[in-house]
Amino acid sequence: MQKRNKRNRKKATANNKQREEFWPEPPKPKSGEKEPVRLNKYIASAGICSRREADKLIEEGKVKVNGKVATELGVKVTAKDNVLVNDEEIQPEEFVYILLNKPKNTISTTNDEKDRKTVLDVIEDATGKRVYPVGRLDRNTTGLLLLTNDGELAHRLMHPSYKIRKVYQVETNIILSDEQLGLLRKGVMLDDGAARAYKVDRHKVLANVIFMSVIDGRNHQVRRMIQAVDAEVISLKRTIYAGLTTDDLRQGRWRYLTRKEIHELRQLVKLLDKKSLRL
Ligand code: URA
Repeated sequence: MQKRNKRNRKKATANNKQREEFWPEPPKPKSGEKEPVRLNKYIASAGICSRREADKLIEEGKVKVNGKVATELGVKVTAKDNVLVNDEEIQPEEFVYILLNKPKNTISTTNDEKDRKTVLDVIEDATGKRVYPVGRLDRNTTGLLLLTNDGELAHRLMHPSYKIRKVYQVETNIILSDEQLGLLRKGVMLDDGAARAYKVDRHKVLANVIFMSVIDGRNHQVRRMIQAVDAEVISLKRTIYAGLTTDDLRQGRWRYLTRKEIHELRQLVKLLDKKSLRL
């Protein structure tokens, strides 16, 4: 028991070290903010939904400020105001942004039907924050997964209109022909519509490995695209997401994004307000 406590303490110190290394000055908690912010932004910063969804909640009369139903979309609030959504009090949180190099055989969805421990639980144990995956990776897919409690940023990164590029390293059961690669570039028909790879390159050394760059993020999309050209995926790894890579991280490890990386992500999805410029 004592040994385990010692191990846990060591782990916590290692995580703190990681945090210091990558994010030397954590941002100030949002709940301490004095400046008034628009109600939709305040709700989104509690991590429950995007600003647009918050507007809908306001329009539907589901938001109360200091006991009164909010009717104006543009109303501003501060941390001193009491804000209820569906009669539950909300508190804006300090945002965390995490880059995980997901190992194989791990679950990254929010609710596993068999109630198994997920990568989200592991991050929550270490940070004390409930984070959500930005997009999904199958149980046996490895590689880059972003996790955050910033609902607005996550929502935009997943929205097809921002055209966020993902690159997958795909090992296949056969060596794909030039014709098969051409089909992937041109587009293949899946049961939920056409899908294409914006770029396909062969691995320089391994003949049965390709790099595929895709924009949309439909369920099992890469596996289904490979099946559509009569091959099977043996292993799948996401190597790039929105310009970020796992180059500096071993599988199973995670780190906080740097301020520069957060700033660049916000720029990508046109979320540049004064606060983010001060990062
Ligand atoms: N495409 C897939 O088929 N699986 C993943 O995990 C990600 C993209």
